[in-house]
Parts: sequence; C-alpha cells; structure tokens
Amino acid sequence: MAVSFVHLAMLLSLIPATVASPRKLRVSPADTAELDAGTPSSPADASRPTTFFEVDRPLRPPPGSSGPCSTLLLSSSFGFTFTKPPATAAYSPPPCLVAEGSSASAISLAVLEWRATCQGVQFDRIFGVWLGGAELLRSCTAEPRPNGIVWSVSKDITKYASLLAAGNSTLAVYLGNLVNSQYTGVYYANVTLHLYFRRAPTRTPPPPATAPADVIVPMSRGLPLNDGLWYQVQNATDVQSTSVTLPPNAYRAVLEVYASSHGDDEFWYTNTPGAANGPFREVTVRVDGVLAGAAWPFPVIYTGGIYPLLWRPITAIGSFNLPTYDIELTPLLGKLLDGKAHEFGFAVTNALDMWYVDANLHLWLDPGSAATTAGLIAYVAPELVVNTTTSVQSGGDTTYHTTASRQISATGWVRSSHGNLTTNATRTFTFDNTNAISDGTAETVNQTTVTHDGIFATDRRTGVVYYAVWARQDFPLYLDSETDRVTVTHGLDVTTVSAGRWSSGPRYRSLRTTQSSVVEEVERRRGNGVSWGTRQTYRYEAADGCYFRNVTSSGYSIASDQSNEVCAKGGAPAGVGGVTAALRAASAADEAGLVRN
Ligand SMILES: *[C@@H]1O[C@H](CO)[C@@H](O)[C@H](O)[C@H]1NC(C)=O
Ligand SMILES: *[C@@H]1O[C@H](CO)[C@@H](O)[C@H](O)[C@H]1NC(C)=O
Ligand SMILES: *[C@@H]1O[C@H](CO)[C@@H](O)[C@H](O)[C@H]1NC(C)=O
Ligand SMILES: *[C@@H]1O[C@H](CO)[C@@H](O)[C@H](O)[C@H]1NC(C)=O
Ligand SMILES: *[C@@H]1O[C@H](CO)[C@@H](O)[C@H](O)[C@H]1NC(C)=O
Ligand SMILES: *[C@@H]1O[C@H](CO)[C@@H](O)[C@H](O)[C@H]1NC(C)=O
Ligand SMILES: *[C@@H]1O[C@H](CO)[C@@H](O)[C@H](O)[C@H]1NC(C)=O
Ligand SMILES: *[C@@H]1O[C@H](CO)[C@@H](O)[C@H](O)[C@H]1NC(C)=O
Repeated sequence: MAVSFVHLAMLLSLIPATVASPRKLRVSPADTAELDAGTPSSPADASRPTTFFEVDRPLRPPPGSSGPCSTLLLSSSFGFTFTKPPATAAYSPPPCLVAEGSSASAISLAVLEWRATCQGVQFDRIFGVWLGGAELLRSCTAEPRPNGIVWSVSKDITKYASLLAAGNSTLAVYLGNLVNSQYTGVYYANVTLHLYFRRAPTRTPPPPATAPADVIVPMSRGLPLNDGLWYQVQNATDVQSTSVTLPPNAYRAVLEVYASSHGDDEFWYTNTPGAANGPFREVTVRVDGVLAGAAWPFPVIYTGGIYPLLWRPITAIGSFNLPTYDIELTPLLGKLLDGKAHEFGFAVTNALDMWYVDANLHLWLDPGSAATTAGLIAYVAPELVVNTTTSVQSGGDTTYHTTASRQISATGWVRSSHGNLTTNATRTFTFDNTNAISDGTAETVNQTTVTHDGIFATDRRTGVVYYAVWARQDFPLYLDSETDRVTVTHGLDVTTVSAGRWSSGPRYRSLRTTQSSVVEEVERRRGNGVSWGTRQTYRYEAADGCYFRNVTSSGYSIASDQSNEVCAKGGAPAGVGGVTAALRAASAADEAGLVRN
C-alpha cells in the first residue's frame, strides 16, 4: 500500500467550543505507522528494535550497601488482555531478603524494573503493578514499530520495604491490550526486583517517622478482577471509596495517591469551559466525607498523546513512571485512631470519563506501645477558588483564562512512646491556564500548577523539632498546535528541604527537568515525511548525589547526549526562589532540635 500522507491540520483539526474532546490530540497508531513508514530511517536502524526511554537519574544505593540481589518476579505477554484478569505471580520475599531476617530496615535500596518489548502496531496502554493490592508502579507502554521496540523503567520502591519483607502475597500486573488484524502489537514484559542491603542493619536503627513506613495499607480494588485494581472515577460527582480500620498504635500517616487521566480527560489541560468542564482538575481525598487533602496533578502526556512521533525515542516526563502525590494525614489521626472503620473517598474535581485513582496508606507504628492517642487541634480548608474568563476577539479567536487556588491546613497531636508531638501540615496550590484558540486552526495552552507544602512535627512543651519538610512543586506546560507545527514544552521542578531530629536522608533535594519537543511537516511537499525532535535537560541535586543530563534527539536518532554525576560546589540547589529561606529555617529547626535536646 502506498504511503498515504496524513496532514497535520487534519489530525489536529480544531473543533470549536464545548464538546468533551474538542480537539483531536490523538493520532491513531495506524496513522502513526503510516507516518513512521514515511520517515527516512538510517539503514542501521532498519533491522534493530528501537530503544525508547524516559530521562531519569540512575538509582545508586547508599555507600556501603551490598547487592544487587535480583529476582525475576513476573514474566508475561499481554496480547488480548482487555477485560481479562491481571497477570499474577506468587510473591515471597527473595532468599537474600530472608537471609537478612526478612527485615525491611535491612533494605537500603529497592528497585522495581519493568522491561518490555513489542512489535507491530499498537496503542499506548496504561498499566499498573500491584503487590498485595498496593500499587508500586503506574506507567504507560511505548508504541511499537514494525521492527520492534524495547524499553525499561526503573523505579525506586524502597518506601515499600515493609511490603517486600512482609511475607507471601500476589504480584499483579494489569495492562489492558487489544489485538486484532490492525493492532497487532503484543507486549512482552519482565518485572524484576533488585535489592541492596545495609552492611550492618542492626547497628543504626532507622529513624522514626521518616524511614520507610512500618505498614502499608492498600486502598484499591481487590482481586479477582477482569480489570485493573485502580478505582475508576467517571465524572465530577463520582466518589470511589473504601473502608479502612487503622492499627491502634500509628503515630504518623501519609496517604500516597496514584492518579491518571484517560478518555475524555486525557488532555484535561486543553478542555474548554462548558460541557468539557474547563481545564482545572484536582484529585481530592475525603475521610468520612470530609475533605482531608488534595493533589493537583502533573499533566502526563502518554506516548500516543498529542503527536506520537514527539515521544520517540525520548518519552514525555512521567510517562513511564507516573508521579504519585503524598498527603500528610498525621494531624487527622485524632479522628482515625478510634478502632473503628473509616471511609476513604477519592474524587476528581470537574472529572470527565475517566480517571484511574488508588492509594497506599503509609503508617508508622509505635514500637513502645499498643495504642497511641491523638487529637485534632485545628483544621482549615476554605473553599476551592476557580475563576474563568472568556474573551472573544474579532474574527472569532477565543482565549480562556482559568485560575484556581486552594489551601488546606491541619494541626493535630499524637502521643506515643516518642512523646507528644504536634504536627502542622499546610498545603497551598495555585493554578493558571490560558488557552487561546484561533478559529479552527491553532491552539496554544500555557499552564502552570504550583504546590507548596509545609510539615512541622514538634514537641510543643520542649520546642524540639522532630521533623520539618518544606516542598515546592511546579508543573509548567506549554502546548502550541499550529497547522504545520506542534510544540510542547513541559517541565517538573521539585525542591524539598527537610530538617529536625528524625530527619533522615538528604536535607535537600532539587529536581529540575525541562523537555521541549517539536514536530514539523517541513518535508511534506517532497513527500519525505515529518521531522521532529526533542531537547531535555535534567538536573538533580541532593545532599547524597547529583545527576545532570542534556540530551537532544532528531527523529529517532540521538543528536547529542551529555551526562555527569558531578555536584556543583557548595552543593545547595541554586537559584530556586524560597529555598534559601527554607534552608535557613531548616538549620534553625535543626538548632532547636539540638540545642534544646
Ligand atoms: C524476560 O526474561 C526472560 C528470561 O530471562 C528472557 O528470555 C526474555 O527475553 C525477557 N523478556 C524481556 C522483555 O526482557
Ligand atoms: C510462602 O511461599 C513459599 C513459596 O511458594 C512457600 O514455600 C512457603 O511455605 C510460603 N510461606 C507461607 C507462610 O505461606
Ligand atoms: C457519575 O458516575 C457515577 C458512577 O459511575 C454514576 O453512578 C452517576 O450516575 C454519574 N453521574 C452523572 C451526573 O453522570
Ligand atoms: C474570582 O472571581 C470572584 C467572583 O467573581 C472575584 O471576586 C475574584 O476577584 C476573582 N479572582 C480573581 C483572581 O480573578
Ligand atoms: C499533647 O499536646 C497537645 C498540644 O500541646 C495538647 O493539647 C494535648 O493535650 C497533649 N496530649 C497529651 C495526652 O498530653
Ligand atoms: C500551621 O502552619 C501554617 C503555615 O505556617 C500557619 O499559618 C498556621 O497558623 C499553623 N497552624 C497552627 C495551628 O499552628
Ligand atoms: C506562560 O505563562 C507564564 C505566566 O503564567 C508566562 O510567564 C510565560 O512567559 C508564558 N509562556 C509562554 C511561552 O507564553
Ligand atoms: C545542551 O546541549 C546543547 C547541544 O549540545 C547545547 O546547545 C546547550 O547549551 C546545552 N544546555 C545545557 C543546559 O547544558
């Protein structure tokens, strides 16, 4: 069959106003395969599978660790798996972990590796990996090519050490795939666990509250299922909930939320007001019907999103390892530690069909008592503020401007054998989205979401700071889609500063990564196909190591690639507003912790 040319304007044609998916920001894999077949690929490429990757830092165990001890947990093919049960494998702690007394605190680093291949034509598919019902990884597959593709994802799962050590359970992978005469790609995947151990696990006990949790309570749908274990949130009023009874001696609780958008909400940041509910989304968590926390999502672009060639071979930020969102629930323990079951509900503000949401409740238990006591001191959560303005220019061009903000703050005390600690957790959010639509031919979205966190656990009687965390997250996104050119620039900017007597690990971490991708139809008239490329810089700086990478792709080739693990002199994260003040506050908090010790 002759290569028929698919015009960008047609693929990205803009249908005005208020239908759920106003613009076609998805190119079908069949059309992509035709585009792909029309791109010149170097002869060396032709016979080999293409390697796709998401830029991420290498995971290094702390100095003095032994390992890795690697165990293949699951090997499976995903052909026609849609509406079929997840692939499962019996999990038992690997012999090297049993040799360490099945002690979670012996683990210095745990890495979950997903490695997969596929060949043919196929959609990008969302998938999840769960252990004992707790989600460990949410990810998206790469779209295959006729000669095949290969990719891998490595995720630091040390925070799930208690699950890994807990004993026998079930590992489940759901990847809903459809195979027919047109969509031929079958995914083959291996899930491997790599464990590193501290040399002398008993010498220094892990610090309370800030080491991996003692218990992780999954909040997901249980097996057996012909589906994923995530809850499916279908609309703005849908609340998916589960009932959980906490162990009576918890003294810290953090809820880790997994969320991904699909279907009519895959490109929520481009949604216009009206039936598409505008571009603002937030995941909310309710405890017994009362708002307990929220997460404003990072806009993950899947490998088939907007224009699939943009994500080959460098995939979008977060696409292979979706971000998760932590919500500090310690101040609310006064409500939860009554030995009764409590309802945890998950919803998505303004949701369209659909969001996949589930969560893991990380709990730290008092080794010195069978029951802790707790009380709520203050809880302040003013209404969400969302503003939208619409301006229509002459000629019909329309600009939508949406802003949103929220603050949630809670303070509560927990009395355990560690003392009576008062925790104040405050989170503020701001969101700004401008969407300019030019009469059916072009669209420009400029969005940013900023989240600030402050968590302070202090003994109010002595003034000692046990742990303090300041964090700032910024998710900028810029999407410009014109008739013959599509540009996407997005970034992830996260800075965390911690302090206090129990503070473990690096006192600061900063990650700044920016990815700019462009696809142009410059060769169209000559019939040679489209051209595209990506540039990404990635800078991670932390007290325990640094990583820098600057990589550029042109078509399927890597045009330049530099990386190093050198920390800038002084080591402190540079040029991030507010961090200097946070560092100063951190050292003050440390002094309070030490001086009044
Ligand atoms: C999975 O592991 C098996 C056994 O080591 C190997 O033969 C196969 O090629 C691996 N598959 C992938 C996708 O890496
Ligand atoms: C855990 O699984 C292993 C391997 O299947 C089995 O030998 C062992 O008896 C199981 N242990 C328990 C406590 O069920
Ligand atoms: C929202 O979704 C829920 C769950 O599927 C459904 O019961 C409800 O009818 C839906 N509401 C609207 C307004 O569509
Ligand atoms: C948002 O809308 C409210 C009510 O219309 C208005 O009082 C407020 O000033 C607006 N805020 C912003 C930031 O535009
Ligand atoms: C713990 O400290 C808080 C704040 O100072 C106080 O209100 C509460 O009564 C104390 N609880 C106990 C059991 O001492
Ligand atoms: C909690 O912290 C916030 C932000 O620092 C502060 O405004 C609030 O007053 C604190 N609340 C309590 C009860 O300490
Ligand atoms: C996007 O909006 C921000 C303000 O929110 C502005 O500073 C930035 O320059 C805009 N980016 C582009 C590419 O227009
Ligand atoms: C990244 O590499 C490109 C091409 O080599 C170069 O022009 C650019 O200055 C580099 N950027 C950074 C931040 O090092």
